[in-house]
Amino acid sequence: MATETRAVPADDIAEILLDAPAIAAKVKELGARIAADYADKDPVLVSILKGALPFLADLMRQVPIRLSLDFLEVSSYGSSTESSGVVRILKDLANPVAGRHVLVVEDILDTGFTLRYVLEHLNDQKPASIRLCTLVDKPARRIVPITVDYRGFEIPDRFVVGYGLDYGERYRNLPFIGVLKPEVYGRA
Ligand code: IMP
Ligand code: MG
Repeated sequence: MATETRAVPADDIAEILLDAPAIAAKVKELGARIAADYADKDPVLVSILKGALPFLADLMRQVPIRLSLDFLEVSSYGSSTESSGVVRILKDLANPVAGRHVLVVEDILDTGFTLRYVLEHLNDQKPASIRLCTLVDKPARRIVPITVDYRGFEIPDRFVVGYGLDYGERYRNLPFIGVLKPEVYGRA
């Protein structure tokens, strides 16, 4: 059997933009705000798979109020680093959100195409309210205007991986957010 040696994901990182302690501190701060704002609202946190998974898992444990969770999985056609604006639902909500206070939990806001689609899709169900929490925002890339109610970090126009964010489905398991070495993009 041929053995193949593969570098561990962290070896492919050129630069760390947000380290694990910085992310944890921000998640705690966002959680405190959300807990105060939703204390008596029994919100449903709607998270977008797969990228928002670590953020949701950490965030919800900083929001010690009555709440529930639901998930959407979407894909946007395009290359691994550019979304195209054509969004498709791969997995829909398990429960209706009509009349509920919905908080959308997303990993990153880039052009805004994905969230515009998701927010319209959720609004069709007539929730009592709908707000957006994104860990990372790349405002320089915005094409569609989106209102962010809870924003973790603003970062420059760079493609980032880690803490849920992928390049070709890899690197989601890194505990920090960073930029890949240029040579990684040439690799299959
Ligand atoms: P948008 O539709 O352009 O706003 O892109 C949103 C989606 O594109 C996110 O949910 C991510 O899946 C992906 N995305 C955008 N920017 C990045 C990035 O820098 N790294 C990894 N994924 C990204
Ligand atoms: Mg992605």
